[in-house]
Amino acid sequence: MSDNLSTVSIAKAVPTMPVSIPTPQVPKPNATSEYPELQVLLIEDNLSEARLFREILQDAWSDKFGLVHFQRLGPAIIELSSTRFDIALLDLTLPDSDGLASLDALSHHAPSLPIVVLTNTNDDELALDAVRHGAQDFLVKRQISLDILVRAIRYAIERKASAEALRELNETLELRIEERTAAVEAINESLTQEIESRENIQNRLELAQQAGKLGTFEWDITADRVTWSIELETLYGLPPGSFGNSNANWLATIHPEDRPKIRAELDRWRIFAKGEDSPQNSLNVSNISGSKSLQLSPGLDLEFRIFGLDTNTYWMAVKSSMFLDRDGHPTRTIGIHMDITEKKQLEAQFLRAQRLESLGTLASGIAHDLNNVLTPILAAAQLLPLRLPNLDDRTQNLIEILESSSRRGADLIGQILSFAQGIEGKHISIQPAHLLLDIQKIVAQVLPKSISIDRAIPADLWTVSGDMTQLHQVLMNLCVNARDAMPQGGTLSIKAANRSIDSAFARTHLDAQVGNYVEMSITDTGTGIAPQLLDRIFDPFVTTKEIGKGTGLGLSAVLGIIKSHGGFLDVQTQVDRGTQFHIYLPASNTPIQPDQDEPELPSGQQQLILVVDDEIAISELLKTTLETYNYRVITANNGAEAIAIYQQHHDTIDSVLIDMMMPVMDGLTTVAALHQLNPDLPIVAMSGINSIEAVAQTQRVGCQYFLAKPYTNRDLLQILSDCTRSR
Ligand SMILES: Nc1ncnc2c1ncn2[C@@H]1O[C@H](COP(=O)(O)OP(=O)(O)OP(=O)(O)O)[C@@H](O)[C@H]1O
Ligand SMILES: [Mg+2]
Repeated sequence: MSDNLSTVSIAKAVPTMPVSIPTPQVPKPNATSEYPELQVLLIEDNLSEARLFREILQDAWSDKFGLVHFQRLGPAIIELSSTRFDIALLDLTLPDSDGLASLDALSHHAPSLPIVVLTNTNDDELALDAVRHGAQDFLVKRQISLDILVRAIRYAIERKASAEALRELNETLELRIEERTAAVEAINESLTQEIESRENIQNRLELAQQAGKLGTFEWDITADRVTWSIELETLYGLPPGSFGNSNANWLATIHPEDRPKIRAELDRWRIFAKGEDSPQNSLNVSNISGSKSLQLSPGLDLEFRIFGLDTNTYWMAVKSSMFLDRDGHPTRTIGIHMDITEKKQLEAQFLRAQRLESLGTLASGIAHDLNNVLTPILAAAQLLPLRLPNLDDRTQNLIEILESSSRRGADLIGQILSFAQGIEGKHISIQPAHLLLDIQKIVAQVLPKSISIDRAIPADLWTVSGDMTQLHQVLMNLCVNARDAMPQGGTLSIKAANRSIDSAFARTHLDAQVGNYVEMSITDTGTGIAPQLLDRIFDPFVTTKEIGKGTGLGLSAVLGIIKSHGGFLDVQTQVDRGTQFHIYLPASNTPIQPDQDEPELPSGQQQLILVVDDEIAISELLKTTLETYNYRVITANNGAEAIAIYQQHHDTIDSVLIDMMMPVMDGLTTVAALHQLNPDLPIVAMSGINSIEAVAQTQRVGCQYFLAKPYTNRDLLQILSDCTRSR
C-alpha cells in the first residue's frame, strides 16, 4: 500500500494530502445531502498531477468526492476487489502498464466502472481509441478545470449507468429471447416428430392402399364436394387430380351400361340429404359411441365395371359409411374403392365350373343310353365281314358306312363325356414338342393358303403325362377353331414354353397350382370372340357356326380333357384382332416311352368267359365276337343270374365281363358278390361312363380291368387277354 492514498473525503476545507498519507475527512460545508459522495479512483503516476486533481475536486461546491489515488495499475486493481468506486480516472502512461492495455485491464476487472482516461495534449488519437475501447470520456491533462472535470465525471457516470442499464436490458431481453427460442425449438421438435409420425402413418396407409388395391374418398353430400385420395385415382390408372372435386369425372370412367345405375344411387343420397325423403325409414342407423348428434349408417355399396387405359374391363367396388345429422339426413360419406376384378374372374370361373358340372351329370346319363345303342351297332358292323366273308362290294360298302357312322357317333359321345367328367385316358410321358410338331404338319396340309403358320416350339420343353390321342384332339380342335375364325386368312401361331406358376398367378385361376407347367398356345388373327359369348364358349352345344358346320362340342371337349390332365386353360381375345388359347399342363419328368408297333389282335385259348349284360343284343354280339377269337362264352342277363351261373360253373369260368349299368342288381353289387365267392376271379367292368370316378369306383370293389363303351374289338380282346393271362 505504499503508493496508496487511502480514502479521503475531499471538501473545500480539506488540504491536498501528500501521497501515502491519509487525509482526514472534513465535511464540505456547502455540500447538500442531495448528492451522495462520489468515490473516485485516480490512477496517475505523476504526483503533481494527482495533487492537481485533488485540489480541483476539493473546489467542487455542488458535489462531494472521495478520492483514492494509485500511482500504478496493479494495486488499483487489487483495491477494486474490496472497495466500491463510482468512477476511475486513468492515466494511460503508467509504470506498470501502458496505453489501451491499462484501460482493457481495468475494465476487465471492473466492467461496470465508468472510466475517464487522462491523456497528454498531443494524444488525441489515443484518447479517441480509448473511447472506442469503452472509456466513457477522456480529459486532456493540464486543460482540466473544475467544471470540465466534474461534468466529465457526472457524464461518465451517467453514460455508464445508461449503458449498464441498456446492457442489463439487453441481457434480460437476450435471456428472454433465448428462453422463447428454446420453447419454440421444443415445440418445433415435437411438431417435427408429430409430422414424421403422421408421415409414417400416411406412408403406411398409402402402401396398404396400394397393396390392397384400394383408394379412399370423402363425399360431402350437402356441398356436393368430393375429395379423392391419390391412390384412388392411381387405381383408375389416372394421374392425381383427374377426378377434381366432383363425381362427374369419376362417373365418366364407368362402363356405359353400369353408369345409369350408379348415377341413380348418388341421386338417391342427394335426395335423402335434402330431407325430401325419409332416410330413417330406409337407413339402418346407429349412434357412434353414444354420441347423440353423430350417427352412422351403411352408405354406398356398389359394384360396377370400368374401362382401364389398356381398354380391358375391370371391376370396382365402392363401400362407405354415411354420417347423418340429428334428423337422420345424410351429410357426408367416407369410404373406399376396391379393385375386385380378380374376385369377379374367380366367381365367373366358379360359376362356369358349376354349370359345366351339372351339364356333365346330365350328359353322362344320356351318353350311357346312347352308348348302349351304339355298342351293338359298332360290334355288329365289325363282326359282319368276318361272318360273311363273301359279301359283294356294295354290301361291304354299306357295312363300312355303318361302322364309320357308329364310330362317329361314339366319338361324339366321347367328346361329351370328356367335358362332362373327364376321360380316363392311357397316360404316358409325352414330349409336347413332338406333339406340336405333329399337329403343325397336319395343320399345314389342311389349312388354306391364305393362312400362314408361325411356330415357336423349343426342343427342351419339360415332358407332360397325358393321353396322346386326347391331347391331339385338343390341339386339333383349337386349330380348327382358329381356321374358322380366319375366313379371310391370317396367321396361326403354335407356340410352347416352360412356365413356373407362382402363387400370384395361381390365385387368378381356379384350377392352377403353384408348380411347373408346359404352356401350349394356339393363337389366331381372326374375328375374336364377343364378350357376351366368351363366357359360354366352353358350354356344350354353344356354337356360332352354321347348322351342320359345328356342334359346339369342340371347346367343351378341350376343357374336359385338359382338366382330366390336371391342367387348366386361359383365353384372351379381342374382337377383330384375334384370339389366344393357352393350355397349361403340369410338367412331369418321367422318361418317354417309345412308340410300339401295332400288334396282332390277341386271340383266346378256349377260356370260358361269363358275359353279364342286361341288353341282350350286346351280350349276343359279345358272345359272337369272343367265340370268333377263340373264347368260350356263357351269358347272363342280370347280376343275380350271373352269381347263380358262377356258383354252378366256378371251376371252369376263367373270367367275367360285366356291364356296370344294370337294373335290378347293378354291376358294383354283382362284382362284390362274385368276389366274395372267389376273391381272385378276374373281372372286366364295362361302362358307357368312362369317367375317372367311374373307374375309381370299380377299382374300389376290386375290379382291375375297365372297358369303356363303345370299344373296338382290339380293346376288348386286349383286355381279355391281359386278364386271362394274369390267372
Ligand atoms: N379361335 C376362335 N376365334 C373366334 N371364335 C372362336 C374361336 N374358338 C371358338 N370360338 C367360338 O366359340 C364357339 C364354340 O367353339 P367350339 O369349338 O366349342 O364349337 P364349334 O367350333 O362351333 O363346333 P365344333 O368344334 O363342335 O365343331 C365357336 O362357335 C366360336 O363362336
Ligand atoms: Mg370347334
